[in-house]
Amino acid sequence: MDFNEENLAARLSGKRIGNNIHFFTEVDSTNDVLFKLARSGAPHGTVVIAESQTKGKGRLSRQWSSPPGCNIYTSIALRPSIEPVYAPQITLMAGVAVAELLSEYCTGVTLKWPNDVQIGGGKVCGILAEMSASDESIVDFIVVGIGINVNIRKMDIDESIRDRATSLAEETGQNISRLDLSAKLFDRFDVLYSRLLDSGFGPIKDAWLSYCDMVGKQVRVVFKNDIESGKVLGVDDFGALLISDEGGKTKRIIAGDASVLKE
Ligand code: BTN
Repeated sequence: MDFNEENLAARLSGKRIGNNIHFFTEVDSTNDVLFKLARSGAPHGTVVIAESQTKGKGRLSRQWSSPPGCNIYTSIALRPSIEPVYAPQITLMAGVAVAELLSEYCTGVTLKWPNDVQIGGGKVCGILAEMSASDESIVDFIVVGIGINVNIRKMDIDESIRDRATSLAEETGQNISRLDLSAKLFDRFDVLYSRLLDSGFGPIKDAWLSYCDMVGKQVRVVFKNDIESGKVLGVDDFGALLISDEGGKTKRIIAGDASVLKE
């Protein structure tokens, strides 16, 4: 088994993301562990990665099933000098990083708002960013959590989500090295993060939209008791989904589960 702290640390030595790495056999949630480390001053680029999670967290207070021996569960600490309102740009950037990475392994990679990475329409990766900011003027730190279904077999995926989920191994027909994949993920993440700082959100948004197969389609977005429907126009600079409703009015949606409606 080459997926361990020693090998990963050797691959990431001297890099901006992952030079400071904490590898665990089991944690409650890599996001929670890293949040505590960041609060105690862990530097930009610190990574927590675990073989399994007992309380993996998904969006909208859901659980992220995290069995051992097959997938990637990781969190990355960032300390950007940005206002909290721009934090969603980091989440979308992370989605682009994963989409570009997985496209090295197979075709059919897409992004679904707010930030699911899919292959052939099945969810292969989820991203959960959590932020600390003492006021509205500046972010203290952001923890970007990434869960990728790598070698899990379809039949081992939680029954409640099996029909909507997939893994890289299912899509490629091959077992994938988690050591290689995670090392490449942190590299790709750093490239995209530097691009965001150097060139602004424009190129990241363009890349995100190029992977998004919802633009121009009719969608329904459900958030708690609210349902919004309309044609997808794109996303704005704050990560909100822009839709055009029946009357042609543009609406901003900031959270929810989107599904494309059949034409
Ligand atoms: C989603 O609901 O799509 C987001 C899922 C995010 C899961 C990852 S796994 C690593 C990190 N630690 C967590 O507890 N959650 C994120």
